[in-house]
Amino acid sequence: MSKTVSGFSKFSKEEKIDWIAKSFFDDSEKAKEVLKQYWNTNKYLQDLHDDFIENTVSNFYLPYAIAPNFKINGKDYAVPMVIEESSVVAAASLVAKFWSTRGGFKAAVISTTKIGQVHFMYQGDYEALQRYFESKKQHLFETTSEITKNMRKRGGGILNIELRDKTSELENYYQLHVTFETVDSMGANFINTCLEAIANEFKKDDIQVVMSILSNYVPECLVRAEVSCNVNNLYAEDAEKYTQKFVQAVQIANAEPHRAVTHNKGIMNGVDAVVLATGNDFRAVEAGVHAYASKSGVYKSLTNATVENGVFKFWIEIPLALGTVGGLTSLHPLSKFSLGLLGNPSAKELMQVIAVAGLAQNFAALRALTTTGIQHGHMKMHLTNIIKQLGASEEEKQFLINYFENKTVTHNAVVEAYNKLVQDK
Ligand code: MEV
Repeated sequence: MSKTVSGFSKFSKEEKIDWIAKSFFDDSEKAKEVLKQYWNTNKYLQDLHDDFIENTVSNFYLPYAIAPNFKINGKDYAVPMVIEESSVVAAASLVAKFWSTRGGFKAAVISTTKIGQVHFMYQGDYEALQRYFESKKQHLFETTSEITKNMRKRGGGILNIELRDKTSELENYYQLHVTFETVDSMGANFINTCLEAIANEFKKDDIQVVMSILSNYVPECLVRAEVSCNVNNLYAEDAEKYTQKFVQAVQIANAEPHRAVTHNKGIMNGVDAVVLATGNDFRAVEAGVHAYASKSGVYKSLTNATVENGVFKFWIEIPLALGTVGGLTSLHPLSKFSLGLLGNPSAKELMQVIAVAGLAQNFAALRALTTTGIQHGHMKMHLTNIIKQLGASEEEKQFLINYFENKTVTHNAVVEAYNKLVQDK
């Protein structure tokens, strides 16, 4: 049977599922059941999800959780997180509580400029091109004034249009490097619409435009978050020794890209979870953040730590292009809920919350790695998952948790201990 299809997008949902199930599964009825069990019985919600993308056949659920007790710039937040990794929310909650009694997190937005580019090829004289651009620049602002009208009312718009000579990177390659302020919207559509209008003006004069698109590298849409306390307040025992190990762990991530990638992955556990929960574009954030980690030419840690005069300081600096209006943020009822939970923040405030979520995850990971090791906490969560799968009673669960307190958790070991417990009854 052929496994290719034409006109798939025109099929009804039922026909799509039928075709997938029959073409790719031996038990097609079971396959249909799996997809359909995630359909939402609320027709409004299902229609909403169906329309987000093409060819929707089901919904893919991820857990939606809350990490409470984040104190940021003196304000209390309960932070929404969407993530499948078992230890992330537990770690965020612990770290939030920990820092809430040590002055909380301080965060500040450094800048909010976004970037878009019109990439074009030009064979002639550069000085002539410069003269042409200068004569045209004002007109480019005027051409886009209808598009930027509402954004300007909100305090945003096009900040500058610059001609850049890129011929040392690629023969005949120039660009218009356009900077934007998009206030509370992520601004992708706004930026791309402006760029295409600008590019059209160039095309009218027979300039060979290759493409016009925003850049997800936003090193000037930057936020910083920080915690600090006396070293003696950081660990219950051997504070100096463990603080030193913590700082060394950050130094290692700064010195060694293999470690830096994992270090930053842990940061993104927190960042992505809140980005997703608030309906923001996590692919854009991921791409921009990792490019920023490589800005020196070597991939490095996004966090830094120091100890000076007995004071421990730990901070993060990351680019985050986010929106709190437009896009999915108001369309998806849970994104809207998340923003409500955060007190309907501006994009700037959300940048601060998300940077803090990243810093908190990194703190949790480094603290675990430089003390008990990461598996201790992970395996605790893993243990409760296995116990749940085994269908253990509350009493059996407590017994197994105590039993594995100082033992290595493996799936087999837990199953064996459980079977023995049941047999011995
Ligand atoms: C796991 O998702 C994240 C960590 O590997 C991060 C780190 O090593 O810093 C624990």
